[in-house]
Amino acid sequence: MQKTRKDEYIRIALEETVEYTEKTNGFERYELEYLAFPDIDFDKLDTKVMFAGKELKIPFMITALTGGTEKGEKINKNLAKACERLGIAMGLGSQRIVFDHPETLRSFYVRHEAPHVFLFGNLGIHHLKEFGPEKCKKVVSDIEADGLAIYLNPIHEVSQEKGNPEYSGLKNILEEFCNEVPFPVIIKETGNGLSEKTAIKLKDIKISAIDIAGAGGTSCVIMEYYLAKCSSRKKILKPFLNQGIPAAESLLAVRKVFPHIPLIASGGIRSGLDCAKAIALGADLVGMALPLLKPALISSEHVEEKLIEIIEQFKIAMFTAGVKNIEELRKIPLQKRG
Ligand SMILES: Cc1cc2nc3c(=O)[nH]c(=O)nc-3n(C[C@H](O)[C@H](O)[C@H](O)COP(=O)(O)O)c2cc1C
Repeated sequence: MQKTRKDEYIRIALEETVEYTEKTNGFERYELEYLAFPDIDFDKLDTKVMFAGKELKIPFMITALTGGTEKGEKINKNLAKACERLGIAMGLGSQRIVFDHPETLRSFYVRHEAPHVFLFGNLGIHHLKEFGPEKCKKVVSDIEADGLAIYLNPIHEVSQEKGNPEYSGLKNILEEFCNEVPFPVIIKETGNGLSEKTAIKLKDIKISAIDIAGAGGTSCVIMEYYLAKCSSRKKILKPFLNQGIPAAESLLAVRKVFPHIPLIASGGIRSGLDCAKAIALGADLVGMALPLLKPALISSEHVEEKLIEIIEQFKIAMFTAGVKNIEELRKIPLQKRG
């Protein structure tokens, strides 16, 4: 399998600080009220949820990271095994590479490791135009995924030396694609967030869920900054390193436009406390990418260990807020700081 830019992203994400330096995910501005006398037992907390017709043991998802290389295959398989054991949903990285290199398909095929996991394939919105609906539909069936996550990433495309920042006419193409496919489509950002205006543009399209992927965690522009070979490119990108809508803000903005659609809150989620706050603020699931990358390069047990840490924090947050299930967590009001 050829060594591609995908491995470069993995290297940069592990070697450099690729997270926002001047912006947080925004969840620190909210607090779950601490209840000193909860009428529940910690061991009896119920964290199950239904998502797009499948039950998850915990409302978490590992969002798109990689695929297409030997390293990517190892990462995807380790993530998949941990998701299967813990009952968490999973997204694969961009499958664009399979169109040119069909032999890379196996790096995305994780059904053997994760027979029950809610699994999402991944393509960019511009790929719908570039490759047409039939090929794009096939990436889902080829890997026996449950659905497809389609990313909107204009700032990332324009930051890349060989990106594809041609976004005109994509709304109609997306609309047609969503009308004809038999599987759920998630629209996601890649760490810069979705605004209210963007959500309004998506309003009439038949999408099944939205992953807001807000600012505060991994910044694709920072990754491109480190990958840029010449100093003039770095100078161009510098003002945009912290450009994006903080995850909490993005979640509220999109929820306003879509009161009922399942929303995934992600971008800079680093603790189970953030996860609980995100659900109380209106998310259905919470997603994470970067924190699982390093463990996934080692083993599925390391991924599991990291996830168990976050699940434990999530349960402590639920217990000390006095809620016994996700339905109750969704209903409690958060207190805004300052
Ligand atoms: C190394 C790396 C590769 C990524 N590749 C993809 C991708 O192929 N497709 C995609 O939709 N998002 C991709 N993302 C974005 C993540 O899915 C996620 O939206 C973003 O990293 C924000 O979440 P985080 O702060 O938890 O990392 C990638 C992120 C990282 C760190």
